[in-house]
Amino acid sequence: MSTTTTAFSIEPRPDGATPERIAQVLAAPKFGSVFTDHMARIDWDAEQGWHGGRVSAYAPLQVDPAMAVLHYGQEIFEGMKAYSHTDGSVWTFRPERNAARFARSARRLALPEVPETLFLEALSALVEVDRAWVPESADGEASLYLRPFMIATEVGLGVRPSSTAAFIVIASPAGAYFASGVKPVSIWLSEGYSRAAPGGTGAAKCGGNYGASLAPMAQGLEHGCDQVAFLDAVENRWVEELGGMNLFFVYRDGSIVTPELTGTILEGVTRSSLIELARERGHEVTERRYSIDEWRADAASGDLVEVFACGTAAVITPVGRLAWDGGELTLGDGEQAGEVAADLRQRLLDIQRGRVEDAHGWLHRLA
Ligand code: COI
Repeated sequence: MSTTTTAFSIEPRPDGATPERIAQVLAAPKFGSVFTDHMARIDWDAEQGWHGGRVSAYAPLQVDPAMAVLHYGQEIFEGMKAYSHTDGSVWTFRPERNAARFARSARRLALPEVPETLFLEALSALVEVDRAWVPESADGEASLYLRPFMIATEVGLGVRPSSTAAFIVIASPAGAYFASGVKPVSIWLSEGYSRAAPGGTGAAKCGGNYGASLAPMAQGLEHGCDQVAFLDAVENRWVEELGGMNLFFVYRDGSIVTPELTGTILEGVTRSSLIELARERGHEVTERRYSIDEWRADAASGDLVEVFACGTAAVITPVGRLAWDGGELTLGDGEQAGEVAADLRQRLLDIQRGRVEDAHGWLHRLA
């Protein structure tokens, strides 16, 4: 039976996963490898605007080989998580921030904007139908990862903004992003490749940015690293981000530095939340340009005591080692998160999972 609650009609599939299969997946979720029974989709064209919203069976998309997204990369996405609280309610974290960033990304990629209410309705509609797939968060790590994305659906090879688009949300039970959990990761410093240039798409969450980070990532993997740090494209000197995560530098005197938003860095929701939480913890947090020379010198002198990366998927990941062509530096013992990273991580997870009061009003109920 199909019902319509909001902009989305609900078409539950009759052949969804059994409770046993769901329990098996939720017992040890990986990251982004198993998907829930349904997906939300709504289409756009200039005449009708957003129309035909539905939550229906998760299934392959019908894609014409000449569809614009396949050729010119007109695509954007978001990453968010749904957490179940002990009373059975399901919440997500600052989704209006993701909705606003999605709108900014859409403008940069010449895609139609999804109004915030529609963005939130899509998340709620999907999570309500797939409620059984939200992990009970006893271990403090598992959640339902939500992946809203938009693709240009016009068929044709002319290079121009697509006249049609589809906004889709899929969901995947997720455990820790890194197989090593919160053990410090190794970072490869990309000196030959840049991630984003001024005026480019660095501040947009578009697939192209991630695609372009894969060759440097492959280089990093060859050097035994897990992630890649990018420098600015103009001077090849200022530390930007990891491609999928923002960076924080913690000093012996308790001060913290994070690279400022220059238009080439993604404005992370976790990043801005951690700036607030760190300030509440008494840290002086400065957003400014941070050079690779400063990183090297302050790590060598011992003034720099912790480096960590943050993002929705991995929350906070300590950085234990930075390697580059011809050298490396280490931070901490390589085994554990530093004290500041561990404490901020705990504070953020406690808010997200409803274990402490949400004093900032950051949580939004989905189901
Ligand atoms: C996130 O942590 O939010 C990211 O952007 C990483 C994701 C692309 C897997």
